[in-house]
Amino acid sequence: MQLPFIDLAAQQARIRPALDRAIAAVLDDGQYIMGPQVAQLERQLAEFCGAKHCLSCANGTDALQLALMALGIKAGDAVFVPSFTFAATAEVVPLVNATPVFVDVLPDTFNMDPESLKRAIAHAHEIGLRPACVIPVDLFGLPADYDALLPIARENGLKVIGDSAQGWGGVYKGRVTGSLCDITTTSFFPAKPLGCYGDGGAIFTDSDELAALLDSFRVHGKGSHKYVNERIGLNSRLDTLQAVILLEKLAIYADEIEERQKVAQRYSKGLAGSYETPHVPEGLTSIWAQYTLKMKSGAERDDFQARAKAAGVPTVVYYPIPLHQQIAYREFPRDPAGLAVSEDLAGRVVSLPMHAYLGSQVQDTIIATVKG
Ligand SMILES: Cc1ncc(COP(=O)(O)O)c(C=O)c1O
Repeated sequence: MQLPFIDLAAQQARIRPALDRAIAAVLDDGQYIMGPQVAQLERQLAEFCGAKHCLSCANGTDALQLALMALGIKAGDAVFVPSFTFAATAEVVPLVNATPVFVDVLPDTFNMDPESLKRAIAHAHEIGLRPACVIPVDLFGLPADYDALLPIARENGLKVIGDSAQGWGGVYKGRVTGSLCDITTTSFFPAKPLGCYGDGGAIFTDSDELAALLDSFRVHGKGSHKYVNERIGLNSRLDTLQAVILLEKLAIYADEIEERQKVAQRYSKGLAGSYETPHVPEGLTSIWAQYTLKMKSGAERDDFQARAKAAGVPTVVYYPIPLHQQIAYREFPRDPAGLAVSEDLAGRVVSLPMHAYLGSQVQDTIIATVKG
């Protein structure tokens, strides 16, 4: 037996005839870039999460960079990012000449720690940076604690970009991610809960002004006409083939999120008592981009992964090195109290296969295997 970590083939089998028709229609039509289906997708994505505007773009990293550009983040600005995340969250900050300042995460949700954010803001002032923006991440599909983070941001004059590359469609106290921050970004990388068959991303905002800026920045800083350039921008568009694929996947997304809840519940029921299972705070819904266990130690994790591998069950460590310890990022400032939780988690978390098509029988086998 060799199980997939994410079963994209099962999902494709479910929607293949619709995908074939949609792709053929684009080939017949020939509008490969910014065809009408791109605008249709943007309308439906905005509707799904309750945001006023959605602007698609080339990938989730560009989405973050475009958000920083639209907010006018620049040299001398401090942008607060968690250390326990994928590199893109921090990478875009130096790309706009600003400084990432690393913030620790909470041990139970793995999301940004509000107290650590406060310390990092004070530290930024001390070292002569201008606190300008915070990027909470909805890690592994679970929304960050926006009720705790947004007031800190407001008190300190920070703009808020929600990095929902892993969490778009999750629920925070009745609201869907995408509608909670000044700007929210997501990724349609194939392995994401809502993924296309290539690279893709999207940006959400309720602000007409930011939406107009984002629309300009994603097409070379265009003005009223595409050959009128008002600002330095990027070439970051979603192509029409990816848009039609996403339209078909969005049609089944709510159902898939439901299925992911069932998979996560079965894991937690089977594994609670043996390992520390994920914690979802009251009023929040994770979309389970990952189902991540905490082992007692790195040694226990090594055993766990070896046992799983021998039985054909893939496991992955997201993320083995927190960003503030990576070669590319270790010189940047951080919460002066240290980032002990990020370091601890990197040493002992492990993620199991997770997707909407994981049947209960296969899952029982996975659970029995990893319990040993
Ligand atoms: C938290 C986070 N932010 C940003 C990104 C970047 O998205 P992309 O790979 O589409 O550029 C990813 C995805 O890989 C991610 O997991």
